Amino acid sequence: MRVQRLVPDDWRIWRDVRLASLADAPYAFGSSLALEQQFDEAAWRARLSNGMAAVAFVGEDAVGTIAGYVPEDGNDPTLVAAWVHAGARGRGVGDALVAEMLRWSRERGHERVYLRVADGNHAARKLFLRNGFTPTGVRMPLESDPSAGTEFLVHELVY
Ligand SMILES: CC(C)(COP(=O)(O)OP(=O)(O)OC[C@H]1O[C@@H](n2cnc3c(N)ncnc32)[C@H](O)[C@@H]1OP(=O)(O)O)[C@@H](O)C(=O)NCCC(=O)NCCS
Repeated sequence: MRVQRLVPDDWRIWRDVRLASLADAPYAFGSSLALEQQFDEAAWRARLSNGMAAVAFVGEDAVGTIAGYVPEDGNDPTLVAAWVHAGARGRGVGDALVAEMLRWSRERGHERVYLRVADGNHAARKLFLRNGFTPTGVRMPLESDPSAGTEFLVHELVY
């Protein structure tokens, strides 16, 4: 398994695996398949022009995603789009993807990384707690399903 950071010319790789993740796990993401299916090439390229995005490959197959972006009104990045194909779970792919996003954040000298995890998403919560994130108690609804709640987790980066 290898983890590869993507550049805008990789937009087809990101589109295909990102749409697969949204179809597989709609409960996990603030975005939705219906929304991102409408993206054109320019929109996918824009996604890969800001922040970071990385894909895990097993051979030629893209089996996982992760991304990070810095909100316009914020100084520190947010980890988003964490996903591992069901057939590749339980083998450390999620750990490798999270490590790559934290590496990118350290390269840029950030102090901390935020993310949000949906209530009841125990596999994701365990992955993030195991990788040094801690609960904040700060909550907000999930954009794609406002009846579902999410909690912010934070990782204080160590240099
Ligand atoms: C969260 C996620 C990325 C973790 O994937 P991963 O790193 O491969 O999984 P882990 O190795 O950490 O295993 C986590 C759990 O997955 C489950 N799991 C393990 N092997 C599995 C397999 N072969 N098939 C399915 N589930 C499996 C187990 O419940 C495991 O918990 P355990 O530690 O008690 O055994 C993955 O579950 C996923 O893509 N979920 C859907 C999207 C999502 O929730 N993203 C997070 C958004 S905040």
